[in-house]
Amino acid sequence: MAARGRPTSQAATGDRPRFRDRPPEDYRNPEANPFVQSHRSFGPELLTADDAWQSRGAWGALFGREAPLHVEIGSGNGFFLAALGTQRPDINVLGIELRYKRTVLCGRKIREAGLQYAKIARYHAAYLGDLFDPGSLSALYVNHPDPWPKDRHEKHRLIARWFLEDAVRLLQPGAVFRLKTDFLPHIEEALASIDGLPLSVTGRSDDVNGRGVPWGADIETNYQRKFAVRGLPVYALELTRG
Ligand SMILES: C[S@@+](CC[C@H](N)C(=O)[O-])C[C@H]1O[C@@H](n2cnc3c(N)ncnc32)[C@H](O)[C@@H]1O
Repeated sequence: MAARGRPTSQAATGDRPRFRDRPPEDYRNPEANPFVQSHRSFGPELLTADDAWQSRGAWGALFGREAPLHVEIGSGNGFFLAALGTQRPDINVLGIELRYKRTVLCGRKIREAGLQYAKIARYHAAYLGDLFDPGSLSALYVNHPDPWPKDRHEKHRLIARWFLEDAVRLLQPGAVFRLKTDFLPHIEEALASIDGLPLSVTGRSDDVNGRGVPWGADIETNYQRKFAVRGLPVYALELTRG
């Protein structure tokens, strides 16, 4: 399924989610994707979209402790999520991932790493405002968002002005948004979109695989590895909320 950007027609209501689980029986062939069912019964590391909505604004209670909340969008196979949770036992880590199979792969990574304070939720990145209160995030990460390279698909790109406006609303003052990508237009779009927003560039690298990230230690992601192996560039940008 293609990942979509925020459909402009759907306004926030505050009292109901803009992204919901479809029950397996709603699918014409419920057996076609076994992860539709298995992601629902995975265990405490994995939240369905409905679970995530139930925990909105109450993430400390869900994790069982109040701690800085770091959110990764599009966690894929969960390499970054599990490594971040392992490196930072002082934070609560939540991944947001659209695809059923990938939520299960993330859940497995979290479980294998024995992490109590990391979870993956199935939700759509266009609706982060459903789940998080303004100013409640201590960090937001996007690693290798889908590029949508064709001009006619540009509207599907995650890195756009609307997403940075959401980031501004959700991040605490002083919190960071960190982007790594193999697609330079994502960096250019982010830089072009911050005009007038309280976001400033606090780090940039055009050669992550050679010179590393412009913030402490890097955590290599699955997609990043594929580009490194092929000798292709990976770019990084850090924006800090004023
Ligand atoms: C190119 S993969 C990168 C995966 C991983 N971050 C990495 O670096 O290896 C992009 C990921 O973003 C997820 N994704 C795409 N659109 C999304 C959306 N609107 N909300 C949440 N996740 C999304 C995809 O399902 C996929 O797992």
